[in-house]
Amino acid sequence: MKFGWFDDQNREYVITRPDTPLPWINYLGNEAYFGIISNTAGGYSFYKDARLRRLTRYRYNNAPLDSGGRYIYLRDDRSENQCFWSPTWQPTRNKLDAYECRHGMGYTTIKSSYAGIESSSRYFVPLGEALEIWELTLTNTRQETAELSVFSAVEFCLWDALDDATNFQRNYSIGEVEVVDEVIYHKSEYRERRNHFAYFACSEPLHGFDTQRDDFLGPYRGWDSPLAVERGATNQSIAMGWQPIGVQHVKVTLEPGESKKVLFLLGYQENDEKKKFDPPSSQTINKENVKPVIAHYLKQQTVDDAFLALRHYWDELLGKFQVSTPDSHTNRMVNIWNAYQVMTTFNFSRSTSYFESGVGRGMGFRDSNQDLLGFMHLIPERARERILDLAATQLPTGGAYHQYQPLTKRGNNDIGSNFNDDPLWLVLSVSAYLKETGDWKILESLVPFDNQPGSEQPLYVHLQRSIQYTLDRLGPHGLPLIGRADWNDCLNLNCFSDQPGQSFQITTNKDGKVAESVFIAGLFVLACKEMEEIAKRFGHEDEAATIRESRLTMEDRTNQAGWDGEWFLRAYDSFGEPVGSKDCKEAQIFIEPQGMCVMAGIGIENGNAQKALDSVEKRLACERGIVILNPAFTQYHLHIGEISSYPPGYKENGSIFCHTNPWVMIAETKIGRGDKAHDYYLRINPSVLEDESEIHRTEPYVHAQMISGPEAVKPGEAKNSWLTGTAAWNYVAITQHILGISPTFEGLQISPVFPKEWKGFTALRTFRGTQYSITVERIGPGNQVELILDGNLIPGNVIPLPPAGVKNVNVTAKVN
Ligand code: GLC
Ligand code: GLC
Repeated sequence: MKFGWFDDQNREYVITRPDTPLPWINYLGNEAYFGIISNTAGGYSFYKDARLRRLTRYRYNNAPLDSGGRYIYLRDDRSENQCFWSPTWQPTRNKLDAYECRHGMGYTTIKSSYAGIESSSRYFVPLGEALEIWELTLTNTRQETAELSVFSAVEFCLWDALDDATNFQRNYSIGEVEVVDEVIYHKSEYRERRNHFAYFACSEPLHGFDTQRDDFLGPYRGWDSPLAVERGATNQSIAMGWQPIGVQHVKVTLEPGESKKVLFLLGYQENDEKKKFDPPSSQTINKENVKPVIAHYLKQQTVDDAFLALRHYWDELLGKFQVSTPDSHTNRMVNIWNAYQVMTTFNFSRSTSYFESGVGRGMGFRDSNQDLLGFMHLIPERARERILDLAATQLPTGGAYHQYQPLTKRGNNDIGSNFNDDPLWLVLSVSAYLKETGDWKILESLVPFDNQPGSEQPLYVHLQRSIQYTLDRLGPHGLPLIGRADWNDCLNLNCFSDQPGQSFQITTNKDGKVAESVFIAGLFVLACKEMEEIAKRFGHEDEAATIRESRLTMEDRTNQAGWDGEWFLRAYDSFGEPVGSKDCKEAQIFIEPQGMCVMAGIGIENGNAQKALDSVEKRLACERGIVILNPAFTQYHLHIGEISSYPPGYKENGSIFCHTNPWVMIAETKIGRGDKAHDYYLRINPSVLEDESEIHRTEPYVHAQMISGPEAVKPGEAKNSWLTGTAAWNYVAITQHILGISPTFEGLQISPVFPKEWKGFTALRTFRGTQYSITVERIGPGNQVELILDGNLIPGNVIPLPPAGVKNVNVTAKVN
């Protein structure tokens, strides 16, 4: 069952009923001011850091779902029976006569109709600004004049979202506002150590306002029935402590057929420490900087221009890679939603979504490095900055803080280090950056270790230490030691946790010198291959040869000690016993080493790769994707860790953990099986799963971290949508491996491994400033490529870099 449809032309998903299985959200903002917004206007806003600079409140895990948002109430002032409603459905949830929500690229529009009044609310953040616009359009379709009251409503968060939700003994006494020239300013803690405040302004003269929540709502009432809305009059309350809010009351009279717009602005502003107050001796906010911004954005023309600029920004960004294939699900995801999702993981890593509260995790080291693989071609300059930030949190040992805080860019000491896969991902992201941009200078950039001044070394040295980190930590079989966990955060082989509340990730009760990871072995081989190429081209031939030796040795060991007969083992536990083997009682086969080892090329020559992938198909692949392991653990094992703490079929214990599926797709292309690769691609494609939205539950336009597996109580339920490495890896799998358009050090490579029944496809790809028009024609069932460049056959499958100044290249690839 569907709850909407894809409007590909407009790059929108159109939701046609408000009661989606879960709030289906979108993101507002591009650089510093951000918000999440649901299809019924729920969500919150923040500046840069969702925990430390939260502007508005949201109540996670609440009933009803999705409480707190950008609310508007409409009240029919002529009606006798106190008729009022929410044109975005929440929070009053009146049955609307018509409803439609369009989530687009960086904006959301919710339209509805009730009692003859049509409304459209468009929400977006203008490029380069720290504010959001709510553009409300009201139309009277009645035969008679309508007299309406419009109420806007936000509940302010006292900045630190975690403290705001816990420290009531203090917070009930610190809320402060000013209402000046009809603008509501939220300034809690401004009198002391903060130099920032929020403001809420409206384009129309105010009939009234409220800033103290319970005066507006009335005693024991909720947002669904505010007393002030019910009776049609606010209290002009000035908050002191308790819960500061922003409510504006505007009166609108509409003749039959008439439309009117009302603009609301919610924004964030910082003042110079020395010019916080006006007059300086007072405690009143100095508004000289913010006033012109407010005046500017309360003009309709400014708003129209800003919206066009936003659309133009996305057209340009997404224009960097567009494809046209015979499959509409592929086109839609590559051209629109998957690219949009990778930009979202760039902005938010794993910090803020409907499932990530914004107060928990910072930026993950491995997560961010993998995310980079997806958005590299879209925003290479910002990818560069991200790489340098990440490298600066690397430790002198070559290890890495598992996470860092986006506001301070410092490693997070609470979680620390020793996730032994972490540093290797840096090699992959840097290599992808070099291939995309050709900017070899980045390797000379001086980057500190652990952000310590004086410890700076060229980025290249960071990569060397990443590789060395693995070599310094080998176990009894010569395979890499796993440490706290490898990519699978929940495979905690040294943890042995038996106390509730302990963190599986950072509790370590074994010395860690026995448990080994076959997954890291595969990742190491992959990273070494990239590093060899980098070293060679960067003038370190000898080093390239040494790395090659280490790599070959690791490949050997993986084929020996890491091989179970029909598939790659997952690990050795801290007793030296195999994990993920046919001899295990549970979890006999895991997906991660099959995907990673084959991606790294291990077993391609001796046939292990094909055997491993056949086993994946036989043992792990199911209708909705490939499960992470099988059979799922049915009980908790001290020596296995968190993975066995989850009920069977959920999360890392037997769900379709989507992040890992594209590894298998890529692996399938490595052995030339395009049909299989694309088949797996479609199984987890959210657009394909749109038809079963009532089971899938999360948004049909983005990937989710997991879909519960066949062993779950309720199979097919997705969770943790939006912020997942699935976005980047799927994008890489489909664009670079299945469609086969991938940047290399020498130029753009065209080596598709795609379904046999496709006659071909076309693509437009911007690469190092040149636009490539690519036509792929299938002339036979195989994967051999002949390239025809401007009419001439050229050797190989890499288009050489064109001379400087060439803006367009046309290429045809015949595949046989
Ligand atoms: C989560 C984490 C990621 C980890 C994965 C598997 O998505 O963010 O770092 O690799 O789970 O445990
Ligand atoms: C929890 C989650 C796991 C995630 C980890 C990250 O363990 O279950 O999926 O990777 O947290 O910190």
